[in-house]
Amino acid sequence: MSKAKATIYKIIISRRTIRQFQQRPIPRAILKRLINAARLAPSAANLQPIEFIIVSHKVMGARIFPHLRWANYITPYGIPAPDKKPTAYILVLLNKANAQSKYAPYDIGAAVENILLAAWGLGIGSCWMHAIDRDKIKKVLRIPKHYQLDSVISLGYKAELPIVEEYRGSVRYWKDKRGILHVPKKSTHQIIYKEII
Ligand SMILES: Cc1cc2nc3c(=O)[nH]c(=O)nc-3n(C[C@H](O)[C@H](O)[C@H](O)COP(=O)(O)O)c2cc1C
Repeated sequence: MSKAKATIYKIIISRRTIRQFQQRPIPRAILKRLINAARLAPSAANLQPIEFIIVSHKVMGARIFPHLRWANYITPYGIPAPDKKPTAYILVLLNKANAQSKYAPYDIGAAVENILLAAWGLGIGSCWMHAIDRDKIKKVLRIPKHYQLDSVISLGYKAELPIVEEYRGSVRYWKDKRGILHVPKKSTHQIIYKEII
């Protein structure tokens, strides 16, 4: 396997959702690079209806944070500690003026995954968040009506390293006594319905 291929695969399999962050800011150029990764994602009919808001401003970030819900299975233990909150956010918007495509959710998935993986490759952890108070966040950031706020990606340099666990009948992740997050994942044989070779 070439070095580039090995690196991409390594990034994909090592990426985990991160909910505890170092307070070192992410440079603006890096945040723009993440948007560039999203920009080049596949898009149904190449309509490209997804747009983004980057927030690294401390005060605005602090106003977004209360409207995010973290790690529902282990509430409140997945909430970032007061000194481990995200240092940046990327808000994922659907421009309704250009969103007649029923494929928009697929576009969002592809674009966001590009961001998460590009971030991970740069040492940056992320949490893709759908459990958000859309109305409140739209108000805080004065997002116009023609944008649908889909999700928020919380970002920051990693301050935790979750561990993948074998799936043993439950999808619920958990934290151990040391505060390490364990994430069960089904095995390949559990998700390959059939092999026709
Ligand atoms: C569409 C989507 C929405 C999610 N929303 C939230 C959320 O609102 N809050 C949260 O803490 N995690 C959220 N997550 C992260 C998942 O909990 C996480 O991906 C899952 O536990 C598996 O962990 P992993 O990303 O490390 O593989 C979301 C993930 C996806 C794909």
